[in-house]
Amino acid sequence: MAVSAIYPGSFDPITRGHLDILQRFQKVFDKVYVAVGNSTKKKYLFDFEERARLVKQVTAKLENIEVISFDGLTVDCAKQVNAKFILRGVRTAGDFEYEQRMASMNYRLDPSIDTILVYSKPEFNIISSSLIKEVAIMGGDINQFVPEVVAEELTRKLAEIKK
Ligand code: COA
Repeated sequence: MAVSAIYPGSFDPITRGHLDILQRFQKVFDKVYVAVGNSTKKKYLFDFEERARLVKQVTAKLENIEVISFDGLTVDCAKQVNAKFILRGVRTAGDFEYEQRMASMNYRLDPSIDTILVYSKPEFNIISSSLIKEVAIMGGDINQFVPEVVAEELTRKLAEIKK
């Protein structure tokens, strides 16, 4: 039986850190759905469609990966695609507590869906979408943190906002 999982996130924008996590899980599951979702706590730079489009662009050549969008609960999204696992990456102790709270809530909402965490590689520990946006706003080089197309889109978006 094929085993599927979802890798949910805001991806505002997707980073090399997210891609590393995705590629490592890709080796374990028959299919991984990258699920672009919304957090009620976040104000996004890229809208829902833009975030999903960028994720599609940077994962286009990866096998067993499908990009989907959802606007409700993560567990409902998982159920819709028949995925039994939610995948997340952990960079720091701060992430761990946040992930633990999310995993516990998701478990209470649907005990049939398990969360699996993997540690981020050390070179990606310092990356976060907000920090990358901050560096880009201040004119710093973000190419080492995000794929080329994302860096271009981010530069274009910030120039558009500045106008
Ligand atoms: N490398 C680099 N950065 C990483 C990373 C990695 N491996 N893993 C996480 N991050 C960063 C992201 O860049 C992001 O940074 P930012 O906060 O500066 O923007 C941050 O860690 C986490 O963002 P992300 O992984 O995109 O997810 P999220 O915390 O925004 O969560 C959802 C988004 C959609 C998964 C979550 O809001 C959700 O589950 N929503 C649905 C509602 C729901 O089901 N609620 C109940 C469950 S608690």
